[in-house]
Amino acid sequence: MTRYAGDEIVERVLLSEDVIAARVAELGRSIAADHSGHDLRLVTVLRGSVIFLADLCRAIDVPLALDFMAVSSYAGGSGGSVRITKDLDDPIEGASIVLVEDIIDTGLTLNYVLTMLRARNPASLSVCTLLDKDVRRIVDLPIEYRGFAVPDRFLVGYGLDIAGRLRNLPYVATVREDAVA
Ligand code: IMP
Ligand code: MG
Repeated sequence: MTRYAGDEIVERVLLSEDVIAARVAELGRSIAADHSGHDLRLVTVLRGSVIFLADLCRAIDVPLALDFMAVSSYAGGSGGSVRITKDLDDPIEGASIVLVEDIIDTGLTLNYVLTMLRARNPASLSVCTLLDKDVRRIVDLPIEYRGFAVPDRFLVGYGLDIAGRLRNLPYVATVREDAVA
């Protein structure tokens, strides 16, 4: 396998490129089937999810538009307080929104974003996440499109970072315990 700068902390590949690609194709087909004839917008929270988004949008064979937002979570804060650092460029009233996420962990960030988007009266609002760390969930969220349930381990690659790095690994991997301790 190709080696990447920094991958000495990678423990093992959890989801290979091929496994991810096959699941992304299935998710794309489902989203397309559910949104034919809609004003479909894929909304993505920067930054890690853009890797998944780039593959997912090309697996959706109906017209769609992309929009982006950025948030910062207050580290250590309770109640999932989140600040919008970049808002969407376009209004979403009447549009069919699919929020694209790389991974849902506690769900606090996503819960905040969904509440904010719902207040803008989209025709529909659903969630597509590649990875679901479901044992860690604090708030119960409806997830219409889920790629994989994953264990409660720190993961890197395919958009997921450790201190800003390893997003460019083409697979999802666990990292050595001593790297996250
Ligand atoms: P939460 O669902 O509000 O707890 O936060 C989810 C966010 O935490 C994700 O969008 C990632 O940015 C980050 N995150 C959660 N688990 C991991 C992981 O295993 N590796 C890298 N980032 C993670
Ligand atoms: Mg994220």
